[in-house]
Amino acid sequence: MELNPWEHLSEERLKQFLTDPLNNENAEDRKIVIDYLRENFDKVRLLDVGCGTGHQYLALKQSGWNFDYCGVDKTKKMVDFARRRFPDARFHVGDIHELPSPARSWQVVYVRHVFTHLPGYKKALAEVAKVCSDCLIICLLKPLADKQEIRVIGKPPNHRAKPVEFSEHYLNVYSREPFMTMLKSLGFDVVIDEMVEVGGYFGRYEVLITRRRCE
Ligand SMILES: C[S@@+](CC[C@H](N)C(=O)[O-])C[C@H]1O[C@@H](n2cnc3c(N)ncnc32)[C@H](O)[C@@H]1O
Repeated sequence: MELNPWEHLSEERLKQFLTDPLNNENAEDRKIVIDYLRENFDKVRLLDVGCGTGHQYLALKQSGWNFDYCGVDKTKKMVDFARRRFPDARFHVGDIHELPSPARSWQVVYVRHVFTHLPGYKKALAEVAKVCSDCLIICLLKPLADKQEIRVIGKPPNHRAKPVEFSEHYLNVYSREPFMTMLKSLGFDVVIDEMVEVGGYFGRYEVLITRRRCE
């Protein structure tokens, strides 16, 4: 079952959604990614899957790095918001399970805080790996762990009252060994695997930067 709480977010909540991409306490993982990209790539095509309101775009742009960006998100509301916010960038509605891109058409594919909210990771991981020619970056809201836990939290959305803040959503933890094995079998080697302490409700994130193995 697909759950998409983001389509119920109010415009007000969208405006607040992760407002400051680099300077809030939850953004340390973005800094790790941006430093790596700046050191290793220039003028590359980057696909941001589950781009939300365009925070990665803003953070990358603020860093002064040179890139050709496209954001994809399943939630039309998010995409519309991102388009209004950044008319100079490309944003499309699209699903991580069926991306409208040819195989290996993006040098960098960046997926931040999306896998944790899907019903599972296998189809999505295969799809992002397929469209990526070199560097696949996955930031997990809940780090990989000893055992998998698929769980749904929150309440069903209520359309009658004022727009709900957030409704029921997946907050999964995936088992490390099969996740890493699948990445490897898809042709990607992990070059950075870093835990980021963010404290509070989220605890810590895991940043995985991977590169496609030379054939
Ligand atoms: C927690 S937000 C993260 C947004 C952004 N990546 C960030 O870090 O600021 C999760 C995003 O994933 C999107 N999303 C959820 N399911 C998706 C799917 N199946 N395909 C593409 N995007 C999806 C949501 O619409 C939402 O914008």
